[in-house]
Amino acid sequence: MTLEIEQLSQPFAARLHGVDIRKPMGADLLRDIKSALATYSVAIIGHDAPPTNEQHIAFSGLLGPIERGKEGKLGGTGERVPHAEIIDQGNLDEVGEIFADSDRRLAYKRANQLWHTDMSFFEIRATYSLLAAHAIPPAGADTQFVDMRDVFDALPASRKAGLEDLVVEHSYWHSRVLGGGPPPSPEETLARTPARHKMVHVHEPSGRKTLYIASHACGIVGWPQEKALALINELMAFATQPQFVFAHQWKLGDVLIWDNMCTMHRATPFDDTKFKRDVRRTTCRERAVQNATMQIV
Ligand SMILES: [Fe+2]
Repeated sequence: MTLEIEQLSQPFAARLHGVDIRKPMGADLLRDIKSALATYSVAIIGHDAPPTNEQHIAFSGLLGPIERGKEGKLGGTGERVPHAEIIDQGNLDEVGEIFADSDRRLAYKRANQLWHTDMSFFEIRATYSLLAAHAIPPAGADTQFVDMRDVFDALPASRKAGLEDLVVEHSYWHSRVLGGGPPPSPEETLARTPARHKMVHVHEPSGRKTLYIASHACGIVGWPQEKALALINELMAFATQPQFVFAHQWKLGDVLIWDNMCTMHRATPFDDTKFKRDVRRTTCRERAVQNATMQIV
């Protein structure tokens, strides 16, 4: 198969034709996909039916390490999707029924409607996320993206000044509570302590500078909390202006790949107590993670 790239309404988003992740892939096609992902931070691959979990994991492993721990699947749906490599991002419980509105797990899923970068709260960050659509609601639930390289380029020089010296703290629980979820227990807090990352880094595949912030960002090292959050919020507001946003409307069988090292994204609302949304994610990491103990979102 030969790769064909169709650029979409934002220059950083593309639909990839000539790819079926469910089938074995030649080295040339894989090389071309990786090359496309250096330019296009969001890539859509359509299929007439979703990949199996095994096919999804196998393809993801071609793009980077996706090692996972076996225990403590926090989403609680491990019975239905038992693969340690797959994060269950839908609104379904262990047996495929829609979560009750009061379910704590649903509250945490809804925090994904905040602009974020997957796994920024880990020292070993996420590179590519691959999300596959197994069931989609009749309306809503688009996923929106911004490319933070474009955002950094567009910042006024006066605002860019000094950002490269800053180190940001990222906390999983910060965004869960910000999104309306309940506060974590002391055990949960200890299980996921914040990570620190530079606010600006060079995105290796493209060589372009990019901002690295997200709803998990809860502080700046050496800064008072209030001042830090004011800057983070200002940058988040700048980044998420409509001219930077790409929205994907899901179709059954779609597999979306996005590069967390240079994007933010968010889920958008749908009637999650009435319609089923079954979307499953694998996540590649900067480098292999050993002895992971929890599944995360
Ligand atoms: Fe996400």
